[in-house]
Amino acid sequence: MSSRRIIPLTDVSAVPVVDGPALAPNGVLHDTLARPLRDLRISVTDRCNFRCVYCMPRAVFDKDYPFLPHGALLKFEEIERLARIFVAHGVEKIRLTGGEPLLRKNLEFLIERLALLRTPGGRPLDLTLTTNGSLLARKARSLKDAGLTRVTVSLDALDDTLFRRMNDADFAVADVLEGIAAAQAVGLAPVKINMVVKRGTNDAEIIPMARRFRHSGAVLRFIEYMDVGTSNGWNMTEVLPSADVVARIAAHFPLAPLDAHSLAETAQRWGYVDGGGEIGVISSVTRAFCGSCTRARLSTEGKLYLCLFASAGHDLRALVRNGSSDAEIATAVAQIWHQRSDRYSQLRGSAAAQDADERRVEMSYIGG
Ligand code: GTP
Ligand code: 5AD
Ligand code: SF4
Ligand code: SF4
Repeated sequence: MSSRRIIPLTDVSAVPVVDGPALAPNGVLHDTLARPLRDLRISVTDRCNFRCVYCMPRAVFDKDYPFLPHGALLKFEEIERLARIFVAHGVEKIRLTGGEPLLRKNLEFLIERLALLRTPGGRPLDLTLTTNGSLLARKARSLKDAGLTRVTVSLDALDDTLFRRMNDADFAVADVLEGIAAAQAVGLAPVKINMVVKRGTNDAEIIPMARRFRHSGAVLRFIEYMDVGTSNGWNMTEVLPSADVVARIAAHFPLAPLDAHSLAETAQRWGYVDGGGEIGVISSVTRAFCGSCTRARLSTEGKLYLCLFASAGHDLRALVRNGSSDAEIATAVAQIWHQRSDRYSQLRGSAAAQDADERRVEMSYIGG
């Protein structure tokens, strides 16, 4: 039954051809749009204990869904080896994602290894993780001790009934709030909180969420609902533009724009005029930020994706497992990045983007 509903994660997977001169890492790689490689988002599992309606709708991700078999997953040593090569190429920030990354057994061991990596300039990485928060209260201390620097927690509503409906797995708001408090208590700071806004579903939660996290030290960020993957039935009428989010909040709590920390930042920052802290808005639908996109994504099974909306990945696991040397893998990564021209959000709505529609990978597989 359900096999007919199964969305192919990806139907083309190119194994990189390593030819031409060796391209030794020198700390800077640029793509065809002059964007450097700075961030690596590593998905450590395609599984999740939530079934958020906009990400893993239960009708598709049901008990028959073919999640990756264990042997397909990159092992921690393989992830570390690839991460080391990416860092030599200029990656300064690594984000662990999923699915739900805290479901991956002994994740702390991986974090310990990644925390030892240094940039070519000798600096430690910004090492962070995106989680739904359900296991965070239990794990915050061990994550911090392993060397994680901070966390981002997803939370779409404070209203418990609505939250349970959105995660579709009966998880309570209180568990996530406890996870956030635990992360703050152990110093995984600043904790960021991601709220995906769906007009007509949870937009009435914008003000309660803003009120709850003002003066809390956490940074609340509102994400425009995106057309990522092909299973969530995305519709533009359900997108609430960030400008409206900011206007609604400012009507209650005056806001002033803040400067960006870095050019590659996904969020635009706003500060509460009364000193209550800051919020961010991530406007990938109404104000695309592809021009400064420095992010590469490594899937759970070791495919390298150059865009959240990509339909195909480059199979680095094949290189890792076929005896390729570090120099060969580094050359492949450089060749792949040199050829990168992805900018889906900027092209959204164009003919090229429409063509790609049928084959986009799911966010739970590639990581947010
Ligand atoms: P920090 O601000 O450093 O914590 O990193 P970040 O902004 O990358 O944080 P996070 O991973 O929490 O990203 C927030 C959300 O922005 C993601 O969950 C996605 O919904 C969206 N996002 C992140 N990166 C991209 C991207 O490259 N393209 C698009 N379209 N959306 C993205
Ligand atoms: N649109 C916007 N954000 C999404 N996320 C998952 N799916 C979508 C979508 N369709 C967010 C999650 C989490 C992060 C990993 O990505 O809520 O914060
Ligand atoms: Fe799981 Fe995060 Fe997707 Fe929700 S958004 S189903 S928590 S991976
Ligand atoms: Fe980067 Fe693709 Fe997102 Fe644009 S749409 S910001 S290129 S990941």
